[in-house]
Amino acid sequence: MKKVTAIAHTNIAFIKYWGKTDELLRLPYTDSLSLTLDDFYTETSASISDEDEFFLDDKLITGKKAERVFAFLNYFRQKYNINDKFSIKSYNHVPDSAGLASSASAFAALSASVAKAAGLNLDLTELSRLARVGSGSASRSIFGGFVQWHAGNDDETSYAEQFDDAKKSDISILSVIVNKNKKNISSTVGMNLTRDTSPFYKEWPNVIEQDLIEIKKAIKNNDIQKIGQIAEHNAMKMHALTLSANPSFNYFEPETITVMNIIHDMQKNGIHAYFTIDAGPNVKVICDKKDVTIIKEKLEKQLTDPTIVITKPGPGITYK
Ligand code: PMV
Repeated sequence: MKKVTAIAHTNIAFIKYWGKTDELLRLPYTDSLSLTLDDFYTETSASISDEDEFFLDDKLITGKKAERVFAFLNYFRQKYNINDKFSIKSYNHVPDSAGLASSASAFAALSASVAKAAGLNLDLTELSRLARVGSGSASRSIFGGFVQWHAGNDDETSYAEQFDDAKKSDISILSVIVNKNKKNISSTVGMNLTRDTSPFYKEWPNVIEQDLIEIKKAIKNNDIQKIGQIAEHNAMKMHALTLSANPSFNYFEPETITVMNIIHDMQKNGIHAYFTIDAGPNVKVICDKKDVTIIKEKLEKQLTDPTIVITKPGPGITYK
């Protein structure tokens, strides 16, 4: 039986996706923009099989944990009129204890491998639409470099595309791992609560529109400082939405705030480091590669035993 292996990398949003207009199709309220990262990726093989089965890092996954994968396979079969069942084997390649396993790379790799195993030849746009239904941010992991996800208003119009391949950029990301535990409010639950209860949510589309214009200019000018400033402010505006939800919630751990304060101190001292944070406690620091060493040293000096992983822009989907 033909086995198809696809590799997809994680991405970090500089302009965040936060809120869906359609739960099932995962249509977002707004566009978003991310950088695909090297080093962190998922490798997934799909082959036709008697029953659907899902292995993660060589372990058979059943029950609730596998449901999202099986629901995705059902959607895939229905969409493309396919009757086959699939054996899925995934490996998460994340540097030791980085705590950064991601549904973005997982569903991007799954989409690419299963489509090919079923004999479909989907272009990248179509793959992005498909991956989106597995996890919103997965739509962006189909592409490398800087990627924009167009919100659209239905399945056809909501997909990601590469904005800039980042090949000439010296941008680097330091992932500062403060906590490896799973977040206790999933991004979907957090998004819905914010959308329904934050008095500030109505401003969010305007915020995104402005931030997108500015960051795209900064990317084209290869202005890493500006990219970092815009991304940091965008992330804080997203987290301000969670703080203003009712009931209020947040994704920060004490160490998250410590890292934020250390980065702000660096900025005051003329070091060009900026941060962004997703729906979890870990912090990603955005900087020019020439500043990586000093930023890492300063973080290591002020934190107890931190895990810091350095990465650069990564590629889109590849097949093995
Ligand atoms: O696609 P999800 O459900 O993993 O949600 C991603 C949400 C954020 O990471 C916070 C923002 C983003 O655009 O990736």
